[in-house]
Amino acid sequence: MTHHSNPAEVTEDADIHSVAIIGAGSIGIAWSIVFACAGINVRIFELDDARRASALDAAESLLLEMHEAGLFTESTAGILARMSVWEELADAVDGVGYVQECIVEDVEVKRVLFGRLDELTPPHVVLASSTSAIPSSKFASHLEGRARCLVVHPANPPYFLRVAEIVPADFTSSRAVDIAAALLTRVDISPVLLNTEIEGFALNRLQGALLREAYCLVRDGVVSAVDVDTLVREGLGRRWSVIGPFTTSELNTRGGLRKHSEVLGSVYARFGLERGQDNPWTNETIDTVANAIENHLPYPRWEENVRERDHAMIQVASLLRGFDNPLKPRGPV
Ligand SMILES: NC(=O)c1ccc[n+]([C@@H]2O[C@H](COP(=O)([O-])OP(=O)(O)OC[C@H]3O[C@@H](n4cnc5c(N)ncnc54)[C@H](O)[C@@H]3O)[C@@H](O)[C@H]2O)c1
Repeated sequence: MTHHSNPAEVTEDADIHSVAIIGAGSIGIAWSIVFACAGINVRIFELDDARRASALDAAESLLLEMHEAGLFTESTAGILARMSVWEELADAVDGVGYVQECIVEDVEVKRVLFGRLDELTPPHVVLASSTSAIPSSKFASHLEGRARCLVVHPANPPYFLRVAEIVPADFTSSRAVDIAAALLTRVDISPVLLNTEIEGFALNRLQGALLREAYCLVRDGVVSAVDVDTLVREGLGRRWSVIGPFTTSELNTRGGLRKHSEVLGSVYARFGLERGQDNPWTNETIDTVANAIENHLPYPRWEENVRERDHAMIQVASLLRGFDNPLKPRGPV
């Protein structure tokens, strides 16, 4: 099945005026904020009494801080008025066009919940899971309405990290993918569509690669754990807020990404071998990546793109100048 969308057909999400959020933990509250800030009504279901009672307070304290930081101009009360909390699942999903599940990361519990959602909602409603790693084929394949089930994996928290992975199963319809993608775009979250179900999806695979190396560096006494965090927070993280790793290779080397891989490909392959991973960059993959990155950059000339990179980085540096990160280590470590 192909999941490629035809943007011309993606209009149905405009009919979605309300969504249901199942589970009012960290991710459920964060998704609620994203949808409510974008003008969508949010109906929250939570099993736990105490969580249910505190859900709107939790959302309010985040919203107040976001408002103070100038992230939206509408009153916090106006946004909160679009959120409601329900004791019964059937009430929470009543009339919604989209469901975002945010419950415990347990395949059996998700299987039971998706069974109930399939019974309680009409077939046009898209049922999305926030799961960090479990493909929907593991908890939705038995359902009559499985074609509308998929994973929409947020980065935590989605009101700050504005990207989500859409991971369809073999049985997911392209309509469900299109609706999820259009809805995410509407709430200012960049949708990234995975072509294949893979455990951990792509974002956590990337994070996993970095964590594997970070643990090795600490284990071998090369750098301290705190210094690993500093290298990423002040170094890679800042860069990555402007450009990704492929564009970095393209713009850090005169001659671009192809030259970068020619010069450094064998060095990086040795890093991998040292860690027991034999995955050298093949010419075919380098070609695929280089073509995509070259086509994506705004200018044909390397120098012009470098100038834009510098411009973007200086703007971010300026934005961060007054930022006093409360989590930055103070004093000697
Ligand atoms: N925390 C993260 O960094 C992160 C990032 C991306 C995705 N996720 C995924 O999002 C989901 C939620 O994670 P979280 O960090 O918010 O967990 P959490 O423990 O903070 O919240 C889960 C909430 O779901 C409730 N719940 C459990 N079973 C329920 C049910 N059957 N019906 C209704 N409510 C139920 C719990 O009472 C709890 O309030 C998980 O699948 C997780 O893997 C988490």
